[in-house]
Amino acid sequence: MKYSEQLKKLGTETAFAVSALARAWAEKGNEVYPFHLGDFNLPTPNNIVEATLKGIKDGKTGYCPSEGIMPLREALAYDVGSKRNVTYGPENVSVQPGGKPTIGKFIASIMNPGDEVLYPNPGYPIYESQIEYQRGVAIPYGYIANSKGFEIDIDLLKASISDKTIAIIYNNYQNPISAESSVKEMEAIAQLAIENDLWVLADDAYYEIIYEGNSKSIVSIPGMKERTVILYTFSKKFAMTGWRVGGAIGPEKIIKHISKLNVNAESCTTHFIQDAMVEALNGDQSGPEFLLNTLRERRNATVNGLNAINDINVTSPRSTFYVFPNVTKIMRAKGFSDVEELQFGALKNANVSFCTRDHFGRPNKDESDYFIRFAYSGIKVEDINEGMAKLKEYFES
Ligand SMILES: Cc1ncc(COP(=O)(O)O)c(C=O)c1O
Repeated sequence: MKYSEQLKKLGTETAFAVSALARAWAEKGNEVYPFHLGDFNLPTPNNIVEATLKGIKDGKTGYCPSEGIMPLREALAYDVGSKRNVTYGPENVSVQPGGKPTIGKFIASIMNPGDEVLYPNPGYPIYESQIEYQRGVAIPYGYIANSKGFEIDIDLLKASISDKTIAIIYNNYQNPISAESSVKEMEAIAQLAIENDLWVLADDAYYEIIYEGNSKSIVSIPGMKERTVILYTFSKKFAMTGWRVGGAIGPEKIIKHISKLNVNAESCTTHFIQDAMVEALNGDQSGPEFLLNTLRERRNATVNGLNAINDINVTSPRSTFYVFPNVTKIMRAKGFSDVEELQFGALKNANVSFCTRDHFGRPNKDESDYFIRFAYSGIKVEDINEGMAKLKEYFES
């Protein structure tokens, strides 16, 4: 018996391996401060839970349309469109079992073998994995540190476009580095996409996890709606990562292809969950408001805790639930040359668990600094403060 050679091209989310490590350490009787995974220790809002139970009782338990139920497609078209100043109808929406499936289905809808797709690195690891698994060429673009956090290396992005490039994957409000584009930067990316006739996957997983100011979307820029697919997910805004529901929103033709891929992959997204998502979008919004306020407090505690450590200096991100400090000086002081040494050392000496830059794509050629990522969505303020105090002791020792 044989296995597919193509599997060698398939990557994974190595952040899950860090969870396994943290769990093993906890099982030995240690109290772990979990900053590794972008998951929640907060419940899904009750109105959504109630609507789900009602859907089950009402018999919404069979197959339903592969593209999604009409009330949810209508609700998503309105919600996503009105928050971005564009008009969508249900024909622009394909409901998905989570945010992640949109990545692979977008690529499957547009890419032929050998085509090049630009993707952020560091970035969500599934982009690289799906491009390469589906026989494309993954071309990374990076970020440059600035006084507000990070900005896209636009010169590199521009220089990386060739006659084989077909798409840019763009994750504003970025995982893992929380980068947020200026208007100028967003316009520069749009201009490159338009001039080179490229598709854009706008990964908006954190579009509504924003603490100050308003979110901006590349799809609002003239000429972009017709070439952009938005990745929408309910996972982050409503603390429902395990429910697996989201959507692809974009031009009707590509959305039809994506829905055909739904038929082949999962038939449909669970009917009673779709039913409840109409309530999530149109019902009481005190749940997501509470969530955002809670996350803001956690962000403040995490940023303050990190900045209290010698040789760490981070700006406070306005979005996502990640902080991405540069730990190069700490690495040097400890004599480490692999950031994994720092990750394991922090777990063993301070019970603090986090991911490193290496969990978010192969480091780019010119990278010399070391970074680690703290996710604060699954840890309460008291534990953040305790964990950070322990980390300070270890990092400064
Ligand atoms: C940038 C980004 N895109 C997509 C996803 C996938 O979201 P979901 O869990 O809804 O599939 C994540 C999840 O962490 C993410 O960080």
